[in-house]
Amino acid sequence: MAKSGVSLAERIEDEVRFFKTWATSPIKMGAFSPTSRALASLMVKLAEPDPSGYTLEVGSGTGVVTQAMLDAGLSPDKIICVEYDKDFCRLLRKRFPDIAIIQGDALNLDDTLGEYRDLTFSAILSGLPLLNVPRAKRVPYIESLFDHMAPGGKVSQLSYSPVPPQDAVPGRFTVEGSKWVTFNLPPGRVWVYKRVI
Ligand SMILES: C[S@@+](CC[C@H](N)C(=O)[O-])C[C@H]1O[C@@H](n2cnc3c(N)ncnc32)[C@H](O)[C@@H]1O
Repeated sequence: MAKSGVSLAERIEDEVRFFKTWATSPIKMGAFSPTSRALASLMVKLAEPDPSGYTLEVGSGTGVVTQAMLDAGLSPDKIICVEYDKDFCRLLRKRFPDIAIIQGDALNLDDTLGEYRDLTFSAILSGLPLLNVPRAKRVPYIESLFDHMAPGGKVSQLSYSPVPPQDAVPGRFTVEGSKWVTFNLPPGRVWVYKRVI
């Protein structure tokens, strides 16, 4: 896909597709509209992916964050995407034929990554609606991401909440919030998680 991303017609189609999926699975989707380009770029910037290493995206949806990674100069063969919804996976494969798109549950990351499970990611971008995940599964999810990252790697977590979807755990990981991106439906922000080394 071109650097400028999808056409206006495709963006409108994405809005409709996203809204319909949200209407049937609001908890899994966490939002009724795709991530804005501004919020997607902020997620990439704060995760600080190393272009020479691999980057993982979780909950890719319609691919706005995926496109932001390409726009930031990451190579498609260094990006791995995990998405639960089969229809979104079909769309992502069509839009990003050179990116590995894995259909599966990011809460069971080891199994879902399959042949990619031994990769070490330089950064991870998570669009998974963490606030909708049962509390008991949030820390294991964040720690499963760190288990697949180089030391010092950052997790950029998308969120629409004034408080982190998971607080820091002393001695295990820290969390820091970004500014709000108001040009996003609903307004969103990024929480950056870092493992305590
Ligand atoms: C807030 S949306 C992300 C939107 C995406 N950035 C976009 O612009 O289209 C959350 C995405 O996470 C996916 N998702 C939810 N739970 C998941 C899970 N357990 N594993 C993988 N993906 C999941 C949903 O299907 C949805 O596409």
